[in-house]
Amino acid sequence: MRKVAVIGAGVMGHGIAQVCAMAGFEVSLVDISEEILKRALQQIMQSLNKLVEKGAITKEDATKVFERIKTSLSIAEAVKDADVVIEAVPENLELKRQVFRQIDMHAPPHTILASNTSTLRITDIAAATSRPSRVVGTHFFNPPQLMPLVEVVKGEQTSDDTISEILNFVSKIGKQSILCKKDVKGFIVNRIGSQVFEECLWAVYRGEATVEEVDASIRAAGFPMGMFELMDFIGLDPLLMGLRVLEEAYGDRFKVPPLLEDLVKKGKYGRKSGQGFYDWSKGRPLIKLELAGKYDINRVWAVAVNEAAHLISEGVADPLTIDRGMKLAQNFPAGPCEKGDEIGIDNIFNLLNELYQKHNDARYRPAPLLEEFIKSNRLGRKQGIGFYEYKAAKKFDTILVEKERNVGWIILNRPEKMNAITPKMLEEVSLALDELERDPEIRCVAITGAGDRAFCAGADISAFSLTNPMNEFFMLYKARKDLESKMERYSKPIIAAINGYALGGGLELAMACDLRIAVDTAQLGQPEVTIGIIPGWGGTYKLARLVGIAKAKEISMLGKRITAQEALQIGLVNKVVPKDRLKEEVLSTASELSRLPPLALWLVKLSIEAGSQTSSDIARLIEVALHSLLFSTEDAKEGFSAFLHKRKPEFKGK
Ligand code: COA
Repeated sequence: MRKVAVIGAGVMGHGIAQVCAMAGFEVSLVDISEEILKRALQQIMQSLNKLVEKGAITKEDATKVFERIKTSLSIAEAVKDADVVIEAVPENLELKRQVFRQIDMHAPPHTILASNTSTLRITDIAAATSRPSRVVGTHFFNPPQLMPLVEVVKGEQTSDDTISEILNFVSKIGKQSILCKKDVKGFIVNRIGSQVFEECLWAVYRGEATVEEVDASIRAAGFPMGMFELMDFIGLDPLLMGLRVLEEAYGDRFKVPPLLEDLVKKGKYGRKSGQGFYDWSKGRPLIKLELAGKYDINRVWAVAVNEAAHLISEGVADPLTIDRGMKLAQNFPAGPCEKGDEIGIDNIFNLLNELYQKHNDARYRPAPLLEEFIKSNRLGRKQGIGFYEYKAAKKFDTILVEKERNVGWIILNRPEKMNAITPKMLEEVSLALDELERDPEIRCVAITGAGDRAFCAGADISAFSLTNPMNEFFMLYKARKDLESKMERYSKPIIAAINGYALGGGLELAMACDLRIAVDTAQLGQPEVTIGIIPGWGGTYKLARLVGIAKAKEISMLGKRITAQEALQIGLVNKVVPKDRLKEEVLSTASELSRLPPLALWLVKLSIEAGSQTSSDIARLIEVALHSLLFSTEDAKEGFSAFLHKRKPEFKGK
């Protein structure tokens, strides 16, 4: 494959042409007037210049890319030697069929004919050609230059060869792909995305929440943008058109909300017209995050999970494909299927049913697959199976290991014993840390306790009352020592998510973490003296380093518990949050950390750990050695260059 023809030089067409040219393809860009083509070339030039300014490509590269794009008014001329033709003309079936007829007439037999449609069926377009087996959907997202995903759609007659060739092509132009195995209206991403938009629109229309309350709740749940913000961004007129297509195709499961129609009628199209749900005349709207919580974010997840269940039953895609698609194309903080498993399929089902009864609205009718899941006890993570199977969770006896976004969670799992520590638990934590350190998707580890009462209430006291407590003591000592040094040198940040009591060894484990976030009801302490011993895992010297000698003596000598607020005041914890915010707070701290360069994060931690345990002279040497080491990294070069060019850095951990 060498040459690509792009038919239609509008917003999508010119972007797709640029993406292909940047990947080294010769590109012919076609439209019906010189004027449109001229504007498209100007936009491509502007976009390339921006990339040069950011330091992403050189000026010479930009010139070469630009020279690879030729324009033409003739489809026949442009496609005659093309290996792939991508059509991006307006969403009108007759127009598309006409274009495909012409492409079919003039393109060589081996050429793949792809459509960028987001609302029409590929099969209907392919029927206009003599080679439906070579016709396929390549649904790019706006703007194609930046969005990483292409949804590849199999028409009823698209051949397997065509699919594998186009998947290969998509990866050559630097995009990731998901395969939509059935030619259904809205494909995967728009079907789920539209359910979420409609949910937000109807909630506001019915007076259940305001635009700002919905958006604040969505942002607080880890979405980079509120849904109303996003709709304004996309443009309300094309959005309305897309929702109408789905309503036509799926009946009462999709219902166009009056709120959207009203705005479009008034000419309020969103950001591009200065006004939509928000006023954009002064830039991006400011959303008050303190309004979060006034709208139940699980409603968004429930409709997304429900649509995912329909897609799976129809054989359109599997859970993994759906989850990847939503994360890549719409920046969902988690895939609907993984989130459904986390919330619990029964909880999702009950919420949908409740809304269905309340509003008598078929959009909420639970999908049959969810009912089947409930009947066969596939309730999600808590049962070890839902959309996914959770084998890893069963590997350890005393802990659970789960992954969410880029955080690896280690959950101390002896809730009936307040998660009291045994040597086996420490060994398992150590093994889990090794596994998470090797996992390239994990950027941060969080340790927490199962149940809602304790993070960890210290070493298991019942083991010490055995006939030979010294034996138990030595086993515990060895496991503690190994784990502590592993945590001090660990290459990824470790956060203690203190969800209740952190006592004795529990507080010492939390102190071995890099950051500590506690719920406001947590209680912390070193009660060892009250049972005739003293702390044995840093509860004396480490505590003193963290909070000062006077406070350390008060805590360890009186053996009394302190509240999370007091712990915050003396610097023992970094942050205190309400119980229901703990997880989000950890995830958002982790996401902040994962935007930072991993090597610098690691070495700054090593320098603090090592430096605070030695003399200033040695500490200085350690710091300078580590400091100078970082100058040779690609990340440092990227950090300097991004600062100088006033752009966001992209760190690679190299
Ligand atoms: N080792 C072994 N078992 C422990 C434990 C520990 N460190 N901490 C709590 N448990 C067990 C309790 O024995 C009890 O088990 P049971 O139901 O079989 O009797 C269960 O966890 C619940 O604890 P309980 O004491 O009934 O709950 P509570 O709400 O009254 O008090 C604590 C909670 C955490 C304040 C209290 O359990 C406690 O003080 N634990 C010991 C803390 C400690 O001294 N740690 C240092 C150890 S070196």
